[in-house]
Amino acid sequence: MKTPEAINSHSPLQSLEEWEDFLKERYPEPGTPAKPFQATDPDKKKEEFRNYEADVRPTVREFYRQNHRHQTFEFAQAKRKEFLSLNRRQMGIWEAAEYLNTLVDDSDPDTDLTQLEHLLQTAEHIRSDGQPRWFILSGFVHDLGKILCLWGEPQWAVVGDTFPTGCRYSDKIVFPQYFADNPDSQNPRFQTELGVYEEGCGLDEVQLSWGHDEYIYQVTKDYLPAEAQYMLRYHSFYPWHRENEYARLTNACDRELLQWVQKFNPYDLYTKSHTKPDVKALRPFYEDLIAEYFPAKLNW
Ligand SMILES: [Fe+2]
Ligand SMILES: [Fe+2]
Repeated sequence: MKTPEAINSHSPLQSLEEWEDFLKERYPEPGTPAKPFQATDPDKKKEEFRNYEADVRPTVREFYRQNHRHQTFEFAQAKRKEFLSLNRRQMGIWEAAEYLNTLVDDSDPDTDLTQLEHLLQTAEHIRSDGQPRWFILSGFVHDLGKILCLWGEPQWAVVGDTFPTGCRYSDKIVFPQYFADNPDSQNPRFQTELGVYEEGCGLDEVQLSWGHDEYIYQVTKDYLPAEAQYMLRYHSFYPWHRENEYARLTNACDRELLQWVQKFNPYDLYTKSHTKPDVKALRPFYEDLIAEYFPAKLNW
């Protein structure tokens, strides 16, 4: 476990997986047995929520505290400027996956999946359900944006449930109380329901908190169908795809394509088994699939 000093650093999570494990607890797979306290009394919703927050690991709590405090409108804008010129390097998709796999954190090598294994496991689950090839490919690329961590970005600027900046925070976002430390919460312009946006403007106009979703969407968008683009861009936007918040910012296209984000989510969240996929055996299939959609090198 992390020492208290380590928790206060910019990387409070032992591994990025710790955040995803937390999401799985917060959004249990439909049909799985509920935790005992959830099953006993349907009227106890609010109390359960409190329990649930109390149960969270200190590392995850600290991670959300940092995320909510630092992800301002200005920060999200500055990071777009910094990274979306895509002039850092040129890499193929498989190469990027291997590069991401060099990410070293404190995860347990015996039980936790590597980054590449998570991508393959997600994609293989999609494939085993007979989904279209672009859908399988989306599973393979969806977390490649986590390479931001390799470029020195703190965890809170790479992962975390995303949310719109520049307008009022939904109270369905986990740990909404931590937004009190975000300077934007003192800016009245950012604290109306629509904030700097117009009703129905569409999510493309909305500046979400910065992270690996927006980055991988921007790197790959020219080569994938719209449904896939939505899956990549919004897979961490839980306040929208799981909580149905922020509907007033969406347009007809968003509302139509939301179902694909929702279709993707279970593959991302619930496929984690500890059976490791055979990277070597799977590689030829994925190299072919990648070549079908992507050029040999992309700009990152
Ligand atoms: Fe992700
Ligand atoms: Fe993922």
